[in-house]
Amino acid sequence: MEKIVIRGGNRLTGEVEISGAKNAVVAILPAALLAQDVCRIENIPCISDVSCMLEILESLGAEIRRINKHTVEINSKYVNSYVVSHEMTKQLRASYYLIGALLGRFGKAKVALPGGCNFGVRPIDLHIKGFELLGSEVNVENAMINAKADKLTGSSIYMDQVSVGATINVMLAAVKARGLTIIGNAAKEPQSVSLASFLNAMGADIRGAGTDVIKIHGVNELHGCTYSIIPDQIEAGTYMVAAAATKGDATIRNVIPKHLEAITAKLVECGATVTEMGDALRVTGPKSFKKCNIKTMPHPGFPTDMQPQMAVILSVAQGTSLVSEGVWDNRFRYVEQLTRMGANVIVDGTVAVFQGVPELTGAPVKADDLRAGAAMLIAGLIARGTTEIEDIQFIDRGYEDYIEKLRALGADIYRKEFEDVRIMKNA
Ligand code: UD1
Repeated sequence: MEKIVIRGGNRLTGEVEISGAKNAVVAILPAALLAQDVCRIENIPCISDVSCMLEILESLGAEIRRINKHTVEINSKYVNSYVVSHEMTKQLRASYYLIGALLGRFGKAKVALPGGCNFGVRPIDLHIKGFELLGSEVNVENAMINAKADKLTGSSIYMDQVSVGATINVMLAAVKARGLTIIGNAAKEPQSVSLASFLNAMGADIRGAGTDVIKIHGVNELHGCTYSIIPDQIEAGTYMVAAAATKGDATIRNVIPKHLEAITAKLVECGATVTEMGDALRVTGPKSFKKCNIKTMPHPGFPTDMQPQMAVILSVAQGTSLVSEGVWDNRFRYVEQLTRMGANVIVDGTVAVFQGVPELTGAPVKADDLRAGAAMLIAGLIARGTTEIEDIQFIDRGYEDYIEKLRALGADIYRKEFEDVRIMKNA
C-alpha cells in the first residue's frame, strides 16, 4: 500500500498545467459505443477512472488503441456485449453511463449498480424515469440494472431535481431514439455541454446544452469523430485553492475561466487575488484569510466538488464561516480528518460552521473520497509539521500526476510504501 507524506509550510509558486476533465471523459468514453467506427479522443487525463472505463469498453468488444499518454482511439464497430459485471463497475460511479450508451446502441443494457464515492444516498431514480419515458422497461435484480426497449421513442422528460448523471444518461439513450426528446430542468454543468458537443461531432442533433432545456432530435446513425476533452474545472479549482491557501503565487494554465467564476468569486472574497490571462488564471494568496460563507449548488453555483478544498481555507480564516451543502446529504465526512489537524468545525446536517484557527498541524489522516482527499492534500500543504494521508486510491481516481505537479510548484510531498495493518487484521 502507499500513502502520501507532506511536510507543510511551502508556498506554491510557478505554473501548473490542467489536464482533461474527469467528469467529461467518463461520459464521453461510453458515448463512443454509439458510433459505428473510430472515435479519436484527445486530452484524456491519465487517472484510474479512465483506465477502469477503457477496460470496461474493451470487455464489451471495443478495440482500444493508445496513441499516446493523452490520446486514444476507440473502435466500437465490433462491440457485441451489453452486460457489465459488478467486478467492473465497483470502482466507478460513472459506470451508470454505460446503461444509457448501451441502451442507445442495442436497445438493451445489463449493468451492475455503480460504485465510486460515498456522499450518502446516491439514487438513480431520475435516470430510470428518463429511460422509461423513452419507452424502456427497467428493473433492478441482484444489484444489476436491466433496461430493455423494443424501440426507443423521443419524449418530454422533466427532471424533478437537477441531476448531471440523469441529464447525460438521457442524452445517451435519446440520441438515436425516434423523434424529439426534450429534457426540462437539465443540468448545465460543463460535462453535460461537453457530451452534447461530442455527440454532435458524431452526427447527433442536440441543442440547448448549457441551458435548462435540452432538445434532442433522434438520428439513425452516429459516426466516429475527433474530440478533445475540456480542461478539468475541479482540478483547476483545486490548484487555485492550493495556491491561495499556501499564500503562494501560481499560474493555472489550460483552464476555461468562465467555468471557474464561482470559485474565483469565493477566493477573492477570502482575500486572494485572481487575475485572468486568456486561458490561464494567476492566483495570489493573501497574508491572512477573511471568513466567507459558501452554499453549494448546481452549475453555475459553487460546485459541491470544491466544497471540501475551500473548507480548508475557511478553517484558517479569521472569524466564523458557514458552509451549506445543497447537493449531497453527507459531504462533511472529511471534517473529522480536518479536526485531527486542529480545525474547529461543528457539523449539523448539511451545514458546517467553521471557526477559524491560527494554523493547522500535521497529523495522520485519510482520504474519505476523491475531493475529501484533495482537501487533505491542501490541509497538509499549509499545516505545520508532517501530514500522512492514507486511502490515496481515491485521489488517484481523479487527479493526474498530482505529486509531480505539486512538487513542481514547490511542495514537499512524496508517496511512501507501508504495510496496511487493517488488511493484516482482516486477512
Ligand atoms: C456528478 C459528478 C459529481 C458531482 C455531482 C454534483 C460526475 C461523474 N460526477 O455526480 O462529481 O458531485 O454531479 O455536481 O460527473 N439525484 C436524485 N436522483 C437521481 C440522480 C440524482 O435524487 O436519479 C440527486 C442526488 O442524490 C443529488 C443530486 O440529485 O442530491 C445531484 O446528483 P447528480 O447531479 O446526479 O450527481 P452525479 O451525476 O452522480
